[in-house]
Formats: sequence, C-alpha cells, structure tokens
Amino acid sequence: MTPSATTPRADQPAGNFAGTLTAKLKEQFEEGLLSGQELRSDFTIAQPVHRYTDTDHATWRKLYDRQAAMLEGRVCDEFLQGLATLGMARDRVPDFDQLNEMLMRATGWQVVAVPGLVPDEVFFEHLANRRFPASWWMRKPEQIDYLQEPDCFHDVFGHVPLLINPVFADYMEAYGKGGLKAARLGALDMLARLYWYTVEFGLIRTPQGLRIFGAGIVSSQGESIYSLDSASPNRIGFDLRRIMRTRYRIDTFQKTYFVIDSFEQLFDATRPDFTDLYPTLRALPTLGAGDIAEGDRVIHAGTREGWGDSDDI
Ligand code: PHE
Ligand code: FE
Repeated sequence: MTPSATTPRADQPAGNFAGTLTAKLKEQFEEGLLSGQELRSDFTIAQPVHRYTDTDHATWRKLYDRQAAMLEGRVCDEFLQGLATLGMARDRVPDFDQLNEMLMRATGWQVVAVPGLVPDEVFFEHLANRRFPASWWMRKPEQIDYLQEPDCFHDVFGHVPLLINPVFADYMEAYGKGGLKAARLGALDMLARLYWYTVEFGLIRTPQGLRIFGAGIVSSQGESIYSLDSASPNRIGFDLRRIMRTRYRIDTFQKTYFVIDSFEQLFDATRPDFTDLYPTLRALPTLGAGDIAEGDRVIHAGTREGWGDSDDI
C-alpha cells in the first residue's frame, strides 16, 4: 500500500486510486467476491477468508518459499525477525486476525483488509492509528512475477514483518500523521517520494553489508537481486531533502536506491515539522530518478546500463 499518486509497476504501491479502486471494487462485486460483505466507511472489510481458493494458497506458498530463500543474506535482520515473531503462515494466505494477535502485542499495530487501493487520506488515517490497510486478494498464477497493484502478498509479506520493529512501527504512524498534514499543505508528491524511497525501496547499511528493507523489493524476486547486485543503479546515502526532490520509476526497477544507516536515522530525520520545508523544497528543481547531485553521499555510481529513456514520475 502506498499513498503515492501514481500507478505502480509490479507488486508495488500505486495511487490513481479513484480509477483503480472503482475498477477493483466493481470486479470483486461482479465476481461475487464481496457479496454479503460490508464495505465500511473507512474502506475496510472483514477479510473474506472463505473466498481464498486452493490456487490462492498455492500462490502464496510459492511466493513465500521463493522469497524466504532469496532473502537469506539480503534482507535486514529486523525483517526476518519480524517474520519469525509473527509466525506468519507459509503454506497458506495468513489469517489477519491471527497475525494481529501477535502484532498487537508487539507494537499495537493491526492489519485491516481492504478491497484494493484506498484514497490517500483514508490510507493516512489508518496509518496514523496504527492500522495497515492490506489488499485481501491474491494475484493470479500468471501474475506471479508481475502485477500492477499491491496484492495480499506484497502488502502482508512485504510490509507487515517490520511493523514488529518498535522504531519502524513509530515511523509508520508518524508518516500517517505527516500524510494528513502534507495533504493540507499540498505536498503529497514530496511525501510520496519519501515513502517510495524508504518504505517501498529502501536499503539499509549493516556491518555485514547493504541489506534490503523496502517492501517493494522484498516482495519482488527480480528486484531482490537487482537492488543489491546490479551495477546499473545508483546507491546513495539517505538524505531527506534530496529524496523529497527525486522523481521515481513506476514501470521499471529503480535507477537509484537510498541507503539508511538505521531506522532511528529515518525516524529522527523526519521528526521535525515539515511545514516550512515543503515550500523551500518546492522552490528547488526536482531531480531525475537516475541523477547524481552535488552533495550526494555516493555509495555506488550506477553504470546506467539498460536504462530506457521513458519518463520518471
Ligand atoms: N514530521 C513531519 C511533519 O511535520 C511528518 C512526518 C513524519 C513525515 C514521519 C514523514 C515521516 O510534517
Ligand atoms: Fe506497498
């Protein structure tokens, strides 16, 4: 899930929610998937667990096993610890109520089921109250490697494990509150870039080397390899202002990954009031997804190999 005002690639976030949500809801009603289901005013539904097919469970299992093996030595320890602590099911689509028992006890977060992307302010309101909206439905087998919208695997496997981490859990709540504020200040584009480059596509530096923490990477087999191993993309040290000026890719792997030193760094850097920061940044030019700028802490300058010339968002 993401608040960004864009339509995503692969198992990632998206925006353009009005169109997408309507289409998704319509499709689910037509397929009878939501019959007897009440769509609440906060866009949540009771997770329709009885609607999962054997194919859905098999798809979950396949993705889970593939990513769990892939992520060994690639994802940050906090993520693996989250998976273990939650006891997230590997053989079938997790029951949100079960996940929530553990999650609630650990950090007071909850996963709530939604039919698909929700309006930005609804999304922020959930985060601000420690509820993570997760698409309940699973991608089709032919979409195993690529789909446009976030499905249950992306949302639950990708996003939920880190909600067990106290610092990350606080960051997500603060982000939700910051989103409501940014909406009032007309700065959602800038705040969405921060989410994109951290929560979805962030890397973290550890004594063992760079590790993944972004959910968009974690739930993608291809990008789990590319983000760490490829010489093509830039890898640049986290810089809040810089990130909020940087456009991004929604249809290809990222051209630049930003690297945090710790979740504390992320939380501390975003603690100050952004009210005056937004107009300051608005006055500066934006940066392209693949640009290297003056003052960047460059960890790796990308070879730019394979980069198309289509536009960044
Ligand atoms: N501190 C930001 C503000 O005052 C809110 C925020 C917190 C934004 C955390 C992003 C992440 O607007
Ligand atoms: Fe997401």
